[in-house]
Amino acid sequence: MQNIFNINRTKLKAMILKTTNLKLRPWNESDAECLYHFAKNPNVGPIAGWPPHESIQDSLNIIKTIFSKKETYAIVKDNIPIGCAGLLFHPDTNHWWGENSAELGYWIAEEYWGRGYAAEASQKLIEHGFNNYDIKTIYATYRIENKQSKRVLEKLGFKYYTEMQNENYLGKIFKEIAVKLERKP
Ligand SMILES: CC(C)(COP(=O)(O)OP(=O)(O)OC[C@H]1O[C@@H](n2cnc3c(N)ncnc32)[C@H](O)[C@@H]1OP(=O)(O)O)[C@@H](O)C(=O)NCCC(=O)NCCS
Repeated sequence: MQNIFNINRTKLKAMILKTTNLKLRPWNESDAECLYHFAKNPNVGPIAGWPPHESIQDSLNIIKTIFSKKETYAIVKDNIPIGCAGLLFHPDTNHWWGENSAELGYWIAEEYWGRGYAAEASQKLIEHGFNNYDIKTIYATYRIENKQSKRVLEKLGFKYYTEMQNENYLGKIFKEIAVKLERKP
């Protein structure tokens, strides 16, 4: 098992996770055009806390920075990167959750909503996280109005933890629900 703070990045960079319908692989710079196409949609980013992408260059910068973090994957269907799922570790998390914890985040392109892909990809990532890191609890948050994400987390077995406040990219304060999933004994 790997210590969260002592990770073989080269090994993890090459990690590919497969599910029945999807492949999770690291983001490539060549995904920028496709990412821009899906992530410019204002129905996707803002409810998850990030602004719609403004250009292919913007998407490329995000691939090189945010999406290059360990355990952040492109969700690929038929060779198309249709979304993103990641396990974030402190200090990249949105909140400090305590030792031996990680934070789950995900989005799916609107064209692919309603097929259960967010849960399918996240389930694989959760198993990978619990199997390969010293994680006891995985946390996630969603905005109160984000019924779709609430549903995904219910399907994954997350339970209510607490209500929190956060600030969005426009500096606006909003309420969010935090949920958690414990490692099975
Ligand atoms: C939340 C999100 C990842 C869900 O992805 P998904 O792969 O469509 O998830 P599911 O197929 O499991 O659907 C979850 C629920 O969304 C609802 N839903 C499904 N298709 C929908 C559609 N086209 N429009 C609106 N809601 C829909 C249903 O209530 C569904 O629950 P059900 O399976 O019990 O019917 C996706 O909607 C998304 O990316 N939203 C924007 C970003 C975001 O909210 N990220 C999470 C931040 S916390």
